[in-house]
Amino acid sequence: PTAAPRPLRTGPPRWAETPQAQPREEGPEQQLRELIQGATDPQELLQLCGGHRLSSNLAGMAIARLARLAHGHPEAPAIHGDPRLLRLLDTLDGQISQVWNATLVQVLRALPALGLPRAGRQVRSVEQEVLWRLRRLPLRQLVQLAEHLAGHRDSPLLPEVLRKLELRWTELEGTRTVVTLMAKVGHLAPALMERLEDKALELAEQLDVDEIRRMAVALALQQRRCVPLLRALSYHLLQKPPELGLPVLTDLLFAYSKLNFQQPQVLHRLSLELQPHLGALTPAQVSRCARSFAALRWLSRPLAEGIAQPSQIRSLSPRVGDRPPAATATSVLRVPPVPSRGTGGRIPHGHIPAQGQGEPPDPPRVAPSAHVPRVPSVPTDAEVVLDGDNKPLPVGDFTAPHLPHSQGAKPLPPGAKRLAFLRWEFPQFSSRGRELLGRGALARRHLRRAGFLLVEVPHYEFLELKLERQRVSYLRDKVAKAVASDMATDTAPDTAA
Ligand SMILES: *[C@@H]1O[C@H](CO)[C@@H](O)[C@H](O)[C@H]1NC(C)=O
Repeated sequence: PTAAPRPLRTGPPRWAETPQAQPREEGPEQQLRELIQGATDPQELLQLCGGHRLSSNLAGMAIARLARLAHGHPEAPAIHGDPRLLRLLDTLDGQISQVWNATLVQVLRALPALGLPRAGRQVRSVEQEVLWRLRRLPLRQLVQLAEHLAGHRDSPLLPEVLRKLELRWTELEGTRTVVTLMAKVGHLAPALMERLEDKALELAEQLDVDEIRRMAVALALQQRRCVPLLRALSYHLLQKPPELGLPVLTDLLFAYSKLNFQQPQVLHRLSLELQPHLGALTPAQVSRCARSFAALRWLSRPLAEGIAQPSQIRSLSPRVGDRPPAATATSVLRVPPVPSRGTGGRIPHGHIPAQGQGEPPDPPRVAPSAHVPRVPSVPTDAEVVLDGDNKPLPVGDFTAPHLPHSQGAKPLPPGAKRLAFLRWEFPQFSSRGRELLGRGALARRHLRRAGFLLVEVPHYEFLELKLERQRVSYLRDKVAKAVASDMATDTAPDTAA
């Protein structure tokens, strides 16, 4: 721009941001402005404008006002072609450099709304003027431009506006601005988004609940797991008074689970406050919430029970009959554990010892179940058949009523038992403790129903054992306990169900 030399300014440029600091107007000009802004009907406004000689700036204001009044108006299509509007556009164009900054930005937003072609002369002329002024445009207008242009991705102005914002991020003020930019343009400008995160961290204390919500959702949608900011948001959220409201609860839950951010106090609060709302949720919403908590491995018994209450959900839960359907038992056995992080543990199948007598473990005679290793890439759980003396028998020889097709034909000999070795990995437990999550619990229940004795090997016990010898005696002990508890329940009423 061929700007005349201007006095150096010290503070941030902001005189044009407040209405009382606009360039001075003559009396009649100001009266006309008030009339334009007071107009309540498009025809009234067009008539008013037709009867006066307007300055470029007033023409711009009238165009902006017209777009607002025409929005949703039944006469809108007629207004778009009205010659009086075309005259306003010509007036605007005549001395466009005189148009106030704020008005210019409003006009840029108004033109597409008034149905003017994007590539047309009028739109291009306004865009060009904005481009000229961009470097010196007050920040507030830059933000408005960014918000508007986010919906017009092909505009040549957009990259320029984002670049300017990135350079001037220190001038950003106000939580609303930061949140809005994050939500609207963060995904278009990762470098700017980083700056916005810094700024948000600075302003975190001033965020209200809704801004926390919008920010968390923006981060989630952009897959930005900015831990310091998420911590700050969590901290300030916890300071807010109770009853966050349903949209806040569900959105935060969505965001935390999408980002896999486990913050116990926040999750506690979300599950607590969500309970009274469960009845008002659709089944789809309920199952989304349940999935989010599951993804975060967050277990809240009261909430889980509440979720089971809504009757639409009940039909989703599988019915467990006297005998599980064969396919279920198979799939339970085949469910590969979620790939484990940081656990090198696997049951040394070759060394599953025969139980009892204190003798050294047998050589690897126990073949892992013929039914199980169909997931070759995953070190699977194991199935074992022991005779009455706890000596292993070849699994494949016997009928397997829990499977659709059993390999063997022989019934289990009297006193023999089926054992299932179940490896419980880290992700199968709730994030807070040692409570087995749904899928594992279901597998456990089905296998018991199918007549297995369970030898459960949780990671936190097994990984403590460093020596092969310790692991073997641990497993041997577990087998002994499973068998002993079976003998105890044989004489007691069935409690396993
Ligand atoms: C737009 O704002 C800039 C920066 O504050 C200022 O220098 C310029 O004079 C303004 N332009 C108009 C036409 O108001």
